[in-house]
Amino acid sequence: TTVEWEVESYDMGGHDTYMHKEISEQADAVDRVLRGRIDDRFSTVHLGGLNLDAREARAVRRVKILGCGSAYHAGQIGAQMIEELARVPADAEPASEFRYRNAVVDPDTLYIAVSQSGETYDTLAAVQELKRKGARVLGVVNVVGSAIARETDGGVYVHAGPEVCVVSTKCFTNTAVAFALLALHLGRIRDLSVADGKRIIAGLRRLPEQIAGILRDEERIAELAGEYANAKSMMFVGRVRGFPVAREASLKLKEVSYVHAEAYPASELKHGPLALIEPAVPTVAVVPDDDLLEKNRATLEEIKARSGRILAVAHREQEKADHTIVVPKNEDELDPVLMGIPLQLLAYHSALALGRDIDKPRNLAKSVTVE
Ligand code: AGP
Repeated sequence: TTVEWEVESYDMGGHDTYMHKEISEQADAVDRVLRGRIDDRFSTVHLGGLNLDAREARAVRRVKILGCGSAYHAGQIGAQMIEELARVPADAEPASEFRYRNAVVDPDTLYIAVSQSGETYDTLAAVQELKRKGARVLGVVNVVGSAIARETDGGVYVHAGPEVCVVSTKCFTNTAVAFALLALHLGRIRDLSVADGKRIIAGLRRLPEQIAGILRDEERIAELAGEYANAKSMMFVGRVRGFPVAREASLKLKEVSYVHAEAYPASELKHGPLALIEPAVPTVAVVPDDDLLEKNRATLEEIKARSGRILAVAHREQEKADHTIVVPKNEDELDPVLMGIPLQLLAYHSALALGRDIDKPRNLAKSVTVE
């Protein structure tokens, strides 16, 4: 079963597809998730619906994030942000796996369920199982008043607005930003300095304009999609902050263009997948200008040495890559928010070049409300 969206009730606003409309809306969407939440006086953010006071937030020993598909990938970005800014051990797991493995539910762990629709059955079932065992569960949810929003103890609304295309784009980006807010909030209650709080807030404020800048590059990305759309398969690689970006980009391409794609941590290539590299299997490499830049450059060399074609998403031109999409640099912790956006456009234009049914890819539903 699927939740039927009243597609007609949402105006396409001059775009040919909802996917394109929703990709194009991201600067405004990010502006919305930030609005009214930044507190310059204390270099933190206010998250009204969290229902977690400072004492409770300090008592959290671990954070476990649960979601499916893109929500899970956004949760991986969130887990890294929480570890970096709040120094609380955090990880993400598919909600569908978690609910079936009789997980140890720990009273000092804060659980966070992530969902665009708030109706995904696997995520909801994980929440219900956690609640039954007495855990504290927050939601990072887009649809206000949805089942997951109602069943959780509190949370952060993502405010992406209605997302109609089966393939998630703006909600993924806004969820990553919502996690940055949560990480900043938890960080400032714990040991994150005022200076670092200010630095992250300034970075958050730069995001909408930087997103608009990336979207202005669409024509070039469309041309690149034309060059790569006929690949037999695509490899997506990234390290640490870049890895969830690579995973999400690989999912986007698969869903909407039906081109087979794999995502690997760049460091894992030499442990097996390097055997796949050949000219017909290009690699998309996420290469942020952070402390791992040199490591990533070495990966590009390894791929080049096996005659692999490379499309890099980076903060500056990568000479080992065949093509580079240069994106604006933000604070290291916030880079993942921006680096996925050109890859949404790459997936979109690959699907367009291949004549796919972009808003309703075969075999998929917007919201999976059954087991
Ligand atoms: C995203 O492009 C997918 N269609 C899918 O992975 C989706 O993110 C997943 O089904 C979770 O949906 P939710 O966010 O509504 O819970």
